Amino acid sequence: MQSMLSILLLLLANTTAGEGFVVITIDHPEDANIIIYSDGHAVYNNASILNSPTWDEYPRAADASFVIDQLSNATAMAELLPQRGPRPFPTNRVAMLGHSVGGASAIVAASRDPRIRGAINWDGSIFGSPPLSGLSQPVLFMSHKNTTDPTWLAAWRQLKGAKLVVHVANTTHETFTDVATLFQAAGQSTAPFADLLGTIAPAEMMRILTAYTTAWMNRAFTGKEGGALLQGQEPSNFPEVSIMMKDNF
Ligand SMILES: *[C@@H]1O[C@H](CO)[C@@H](O)[C@H](O)[C@H]1NC(C)=O
Ligand SMILES: *[C@@H]1O[C@H](CO)[C@@H](O)[C@H](O)[C@H]1NC(C)=O
Ligand SMILES: *[C@@H]1O[C@H](CO)[C@@H](O)[C@H](O)[C@H]1NC(C)=O
Ligand SMILES: *[C@@H]1O[C@H](CO)[C@@H](O)[C@H](O)[C@H]1NC(C)=O
Repeated sequence: MQSMLSILLLLLANTTAGEGFVVITIDHPEDANIIIYSDGHAVYNNASILNSPTWDEYPRAADASFVIDQLSNATAMAELLPQRGPRPFPTNRVAMLGHSVGGASAIVAASRDPRIRGAINWDGSIFGSPPLSGLSQPVLFMSHKNTTDPTWLAAWRQLKGAKLVVHVANTTHETFTDVATLFQAAGQSTAPFADLLGTIAPAEMMRILTAYTTAWMNRAFTGKEGGALLQGQEPSNFPEVSIMMKDNF
C-alpha cells in the first residue's frame, strides 16, 4: 500500500515503546502526504515519483540510515531536542520494523546498514528482487496469508541469520496497522468490514504484534535464542499465530 501514514502505526509504536524501547517513526518525503522541514519548506505526496520504478525500498532504506546518522550526531540532536541536551542517542541497538513496503524496506536497509541489528517485516512483499546476500541480521516476517509470498521465498534463500515466518490467522494486510483499533475507538463495529480488517479482535492483534516484535528485537540485541514464543512453543497463548518457516536458530 502506498502512502500508509506513520500516524496509522502510532498506537503500535506506543505499545512497543511501552515495552521499554525508544520508537522513532519515519515519514518518507514524497510518500507521506506532507513533510515540513525545520526551514519551513514542504514536500507533498507525489504519485508520479512514487509510481516510478526507482522509488522502491532503496530511498526508504537510505532515509533510515540518515535517521541513524542523525541520532548519533550530538549537535543535530541538540538542535532537534534542545531540552535533552547535546548527547547522541545510543545507536548500537537499533532494529527496524515496517509494514507493507516499509517492511520490505526494513530488510533492504538491514542489508545495507550493519547498524540495523534486526529487521521485522509486517506483511510486505519485497518488490524488485533486491540483492540481500550477506544479510546476517535476524529477520522476522509476519503474514496475513497462510501461503508464503514468492518474494519472501526469494529473500529467504539469501538470509544467513536467524529467520522466521509466522502466519497470523483471520487477518488482512490492513490488520497490521492501527485502523481496526481506531474504528473501535470511534464506536464503530469492525464486523461489517471483515474483508478489509479481518475478524481478529483489534486488541488481540496488537498483543500479537507487540509480543513477537519485542521478542524479536530482544533476540536481535542479546543474540539469545528468543525463548519459547519464537520457538513456537506458546500456541495456547497465541492461537492465531503459526510458524510457517524457521531457520538458523
Ligand atoms: C512531483 O514530482 C515531479 C517530478 O519531480 C514534479 O515535476 C512535480 O512538480 C511534483 N509534484 C508535486 C505535487 O510536488
Ligand atoms: C551533525 O549535525 C550538525 C548539525 O545538523 C551538522 O552541521 C554536522 O555536519 C553533522 N555532523 C556529521 C558528522 O554529520
Ligand atoms: C489457508 O487459508 C485458506 C483460505 O483462508 C484455507 O482455505 C486453507 O485451508 C488454509 N490452508 C492452511 C494450510 O491452513
Ligand atoms: C479465526 O476466526 C474463526 C471465526 O471467528 C475462529 O473460529 C477460528 O478459531 C479463528 N482461527 C484461529 C486460528 O484463531
